[in-house]
Amino acid sequence: MTREEKIGQMVQLAGEFYKEEDSENTGPMHEMNMSAEKMTTIGSVLGISGAQTLITIQKEHLAKSRLGIPLLFMADVIHGYRTIFPISLGMACTWNPDLIEESAVIAAKEAAVSGLHVTFAPMVDLVRDARWGRVMEATGEDPYLNQLYARAFVRGYQGKNLAIDTLRIAACIKHFAGYGAPVAGREYNTVELSERTLRDMYLPAYQAGIDEGSKLVMTAFNSLDGVPATANKSLMREMLRKELGFEGVLISDWASVGEMIPHGIAENLKEAGELAIEAGVDIEMMTGAYLNYLSELVDEGKVAESMIDEAVFRILTLKNELGLFENPYRGANSTEEKTIVFSSEHREKAREIAEESIVLLKNKEQVLPLTVHQKVALIVHEGQAKDVLGAWSWKGQQEESVSLYEGLLQHIPKEAIVLKTFVNGQTELDEDWLTDVDVIVAAIGESSYMSGEGASRSNIKLPSEQIQLIKELRTLNKPLVVTLFNGRPLDLTDIVQDVDSMLEAWFPGTEAGSAVANVLYGKKNPSGKLTMSFPKAVGQVPLYYNQDNTGRPLTALNQDDKYLSRYLDVDNSPLFPFGYGLSYTYFKYSPMQVTLTKSKKNQTDEVQIKLKITNSGKFAGTEVVQLYIRDKVGKVVRPIKELKRFKKVSLEPSESIVISFSLSEQDFEYVHQDFSVSVESGEFELMIGPNSEEVETNTVYLAFKRSE
Ligand code: GLC
Repeated sequence: MTREEKIGQMVQLAGEFYKEEDSENTGPMHEMNMSAEKMTTIGSVLGISGAQTLITIQKEHLAKSRLGIPLLFMADVIHGYRTIFPISLGMACTWNPDLIEESAVIAAKEAAVSGLHVTFAPMVDLVRDARWGRVMEATGEDPYLNQLYARAFVRGYQGKNLAIDTLRIAACIKHFAGYGAPVAGREYNTVELSERTLRDMYLPAYQAGIDEGSKLVMTAFNSLDGVPATANKSLMREMLRKELGFEGVLISDWASVGEMIPHGIAENLKEAGELAIEAGVDIEMMTGAYLNYLSELVDEGKVAESMIDEAVFRILTLKNELGLFENPYRGANSTEEKTIVFSSEHREKAREIAEESIVLLKNKEQVLPLTVHQKVALIVHEGQAKDVLGAWSWKGQQEESVSLYEGLLQHIPKEAIVLKTFVNGQTELDEDWLTDVDVIVAAIGESSYMSGEGASRSNIKLPSEQIQLIKELRTLNKPLVVTLFNGRPLDLTDIVQDVDSMLEAWFPGTEAGSAVANVLYGKKNPSGKLTMSFPKAVGQVPLYYNQDNTGRPLTALNQDDKYLSRYLDVDNSPLFPFGYGLSYTYFKYSPMQVTLTKSKKNQTDEVQIKLKITNSGKFAGTEVVQLYIRDKVGKVVRPIKELKRFKKVSLEPSESIVISFSLSEQDFEYVHQDFSVSVESGEFELMIGPNSEEVETNTVYLAFKRSE
């Protein structure tokens, strides 16, 4: 390979470079100083899909490429290709990694048959700040749960052998590292994390994705410890490569190499390119630093050609692992595409996952489930009835999704529905429309534009006109049910007292209306549990359950003391805590039985916990039993709670089940100040309950051997 051909492999272009109308003198080619000749050396393309389209591009590329090295095709298949699943923050509320894996298997199948090789997913950034729009792509505030989901997504996308299973695609965990903690929740903003917190809270999910074999990692836009991730040599070459053991392809985020200039650590694109290759970025997404300056940097002795060779080796290894040298068209098949993409089986699975993602936040007097004998007034936002796919819905089509109105029609005749639309909270609430209406269902929340990338909000309340609408509906003295469609935890304090029942449906995806209606009518008893805290006020944010106790904790006993870690105008607790979600039935927890045993290997303490769960209500239902720990005294401050296990159990009315958990020394370990990982003997709290706040606590003394 010539040096130009090697460098070409390290360049990724957007699909528009392959549209007929672009020429060398206008459009993106001109801006990138691209030529038709250079195009023959390019290594990968992003943001375009479709079997016939990609087969054609690949064929034309191979015909022009001297070496016949196939292109890689990549895209953002985040929660579905065309069959769209709930946003990741919604799917996370299933507490069901197997379901997440199934969604990724389907997404991969639809993407691969449409010609794609790589998805820029899963996003495994831990998130604690609801102001940040991209929380919708994340799985929440807990490192244990995020690890399970990172693994499930990677397993689902990649399967076991990408060279043989051409209906799987390579995964790309992102964004390394710490992108989920921008200062003030402001998109692309600086990240200020101690390295210890980064390691203790944020790295576990990246490590899990890498251990599961993710073929790619994407660099984050943000700076970390003053250095933009994309140019952060110690973050990439030391931590990612050496410590986390990542051997795959490191790809920049869109234009993040060029953004070294506005970040203020590169004078120009040439310097930016030098920083990126030094940090070990293999593929540059959509800036021309490598294309236009890497060869010059080698000639000037600033960059060793061996760095280019290692990058190209990893890129070609990925292409080989995908079987592209044997079959450059891999799974692309325009005939199969017609039957696989958006199949009824896929939509059926999307509905099932959407149902399990829904969280019942309130249900006073059991207004839900509805019965088919009730007449329903459905209030929906004008023009947003099908805005249910979320901000990253690749080939998902809103018009193909099921609206809530259409979902209700699967249960009751249209004569039983009074459909009212509101624009900016205004709807004609003339008196007569209410006659013989038994219940009001209001579909409110955010538009999909209000979350996702570039969608940070300083105020996370519902739009004020929607709050006003709920207040007016409340005056009508009818049972009032709210279904929320949104991409982040919202501050719901303005309406929580006014509504009788409230469902958090997130952006449920293609089968939104069917899933929500099935829950409303009790065909599916809601079982979702929040994986991100809902604050009482945006001023509490970042708010998360696994917080530190501080030196002056606010407790039930010192509420009147001013000089505590608290606010003057709101308490410290969330409106709805991590792990929270109601059911149409009730579950009774027996007191936990704790047994300490000694491990055979080194006589260190292990913990066995047993308890009985009973469905004491009249509906069959599913409960997520959660086990938290607390290390009472550590070498660094320890969180007041840490999720360590959970069990999802389905029970018929009056049915009971005994469940057990076991914990070993490793489950109690944490990152010390010197970044070593271990745990000291001492007192630990064991907590069990249906969410992170309603827990039964048992305190034990555990003697660990490794700490001696
Ligand atoms: C975007 C996102 C990243 C995405 C990439 C390609 O800016 O940050 O998550 O994969 O560009 O679309």
